[in-house]
Amino acid sequence: MPEILDGKRVRDEILNELKPRVAALTQRGRVPGLAVVLAGHNPASEIYVRNKVKACQDLGIHSEALTPPDSISTDELLQIVEQLNARHDIDGILVQLPLPPQVDTKRILLAVAPAKDVDGFHPCNVGNLVTGLPGPRACTPAGIIELLKRYRIPMAGKRAVVVGRSDIVGKPVDMLLLHEHATVTICHSRTPDLASVCRQAQILVAAIGRPAMLTAEFLTTGVTVIDVGTNRIDNRADVARIFRNSPEKLASFDKRGRVLVGDVDPLDVVERAGAYTPVPGGVGPLTVAMLMANTVASAERRAGVC
Ligand code: GUN
Repeated sequence: MPEILDGKRVRDEILNELKPRVAALTQRGRVPGLAVVLAGHNPASEIYVRNKVKACQDLGIHSEALTPPDSISTDELLQIVEQLNARHDIDGILVQLPLPPQVDTKRILLAVAPAKDVDGFHPCNVGNLVTGLPGPRACTPAGIIELLKRYRIPMAGKRAVVVGRSDIVGKPVDMLLLHEHATVTICHSRTPDLASVCRQAQILVAAIGRPAMLTAEFLTTGVTVIDVGTNRIDNRADVARIFRNSPEKLASFDKRGRVLVGDVDPLDVVERAGAYTPVPGGVGPLTVAMLMANTVASAERRAGVC
């Protein structure tokens, strides 16, 4: 049986390590503060933001969720970001993506003060990442590296294949794996013969957002699979097909009306992998943990602690 890479366990470790740092800042009268901006209504984003605010509460970090309407303009959102940039009690600003279509996302991300950019999305921080300078790293990619390190899965000299080229996951995780001395290939929707490229991987990162797309033919025996996908399946026939009529999954679907599945076939991965992240409970919890880590680090820098 492959090793299950338990994201919840690693999340709890990371959060426990942050507690004394939050306590030290709090004692100095500098409670770390995170502002999350959620524009409009997107059910998935609403769940993510709720989890982020809850993690702050558990850790003693001050948090605020700002929820402007769907109709917000780029200029109005820029004003909100500028106000947060100017506030001394706010150490981290996170603008939840995706933004409503009329908003110029690149302008918004550029407006967040780089010192408060806990997502690592500002071009200055992307530059820091590429050149290996200190600075916040994008949360999901940083969480993936933390998970691999804590499970002592070697990266140096290994062949890593990343499927997906998003600014949030694919590109930054590629760079972080490179810094760990892996040989990295990035694939995407126009990569010919994707399965044969994926079969070369000793570490395979799936970040495409297509339910159970990577099946057995994409997986070499013993591969470490990091599945970033969290796809909601709300059709019973699809649940039956993907989970091969699993009575537990069908019962779960009948109760909740949906089931989550990653980008990797959930049964094939168990057959082929040496280690893998489950969905849910793998990569997801790490994103929030690394956001907390980035917020605490930002507060420490701004308080002159480090
Ligand atoms: N949407 C999906 N993932 C993320 C993330 O890590 N940060 C932000 N800001 N938005 C997201």
